[in-house]
Amino acid sequence: MKKILKWTGVSLLGLVIVLVSGGIALSSIGSSKANKTYEVTESLLTTVPEDSASLAYGEHLSKIHGCQSCHTENLGGKVFVDAPPFRAVAANLTSGKGGIAQSYSIQDWDRAIRYGIKPDGTAEFLMPSKTLHNLSDADAGALIAYMRSVAPVDNELPATELRTLGKILTAAGEFDAAAETHTVANREPAPPAGITTEYGKYLSSITCTHCHGANMEGGVPLGPDAPAPPPLVPAGTWTIEMFIKSMRTGVTPANHEMNPEMMPWEAFKHMTDEELQAIHLYLQTL
Ligand code: HEC
Ligand code: HEC
Repeated sequence: MKKILKWTGVSLLGLVIVLVSGGIALSSIGSSKANKTYEVTESLLTTVPEDSASLAYGEHLSKIHGCQSCHTENLGGKVFVDAPPFRAVAANLTSGKGGIAQSYSIQDWDRAIRYGIKPDGTAEFLMPSKTLHNLSDADAGALIAYMRSVAPVDNELPATELRTLGKILTAAGEFDAAAETHTVANREPAPPAGITTEYGKYLSSITCTHCHGANMEGGVPLGPDAPAPPPLVPAGTWTIEMFIKSMRTGVTPANHEMNPEMMPWEAFKHMTDEELQAIHLYLQTL
């Protein structure tokens, strides 16, 4: 009996040693994967408009594309996710204490927003650049112009960090810190703004497709207890009044209340009637 216990003890110790050393090896592989740097090979924006109409339009874009949803109302930022694998911090985007705006050039803004890459070349975690990539030069310019004009907010936040579990998940291919990055421009030319299918498709490609899938065919849930983003073909059959009401109140025609943390209608309620009409037209073509 004693012997068995001893042997079990030894083999358990052995197992622990194997697991720990394996974990350390995986963690360092994950760490170097996550610290990889990327370079954008396209020309980034170097100038942005300065007129008040462009700034106002940039503010509108920041609302409908959800910058405030994650970076907070005054853009002072917040800890976005604090979980065992990582802490992701939606940065303070202003020029106040702890904010990025003072040190950011126009190129830095473009690289961060449309390519998901920080000034030091590392990937932004969970910042939805995969689809913000589709913003046209004109829209990105207005958005950046507005970002550079927001009032400073003093808010010093902890840094984004990948923890040991996150590094192991990265090494195992279960988490990809660079899932949102682009190094080349791969966007369709933007159609003119208007109540058209094309413009609806353009607007959807910047935000909705991030969750609902490239062709709005439905996507994967954000987390274990989250609802799956459904296909949006049925929403195309709603009347335009029903669609606008759902997007502004978060309540669907079936009287289902959508959680704004899962389906960010509090951002989309800022869309104009024309923008929502264009998206609805696009849904009808699916
Ligand atoms: C789903 C949430 C989410 C949305 C929506 C979002 N962001 Fe972010 N953003 C983040 C997170 C999280 C980070 C931090 C990434 C990191 O530190 O690795 C970030 C980082 C950034 C950075 C880089 C900051 C730095 O540390 O260098 C900029 C710039 C930025 N966001 C701008 C925007 C703008 C502009 C919009 C709207 C068009 C926007 N974000 C929308 C979550 C979001
Ligand atoms: C962050 C992820 C996310 C984004 C971005 C997003 N959605 Fe959703 N959407 C969801 C989820 C999740 C649901 C399901 C909510 C529920 O069942 O409570 C949903 C549900 C919906 C519904 C209800 C569908 C039905 O049949 O009941 C509509 C309509 C909708 N989304 C439209 C849009 C449009 C249009 C956009 C872009 C402007 C968009 N969504 C962007 C996650 C998202």
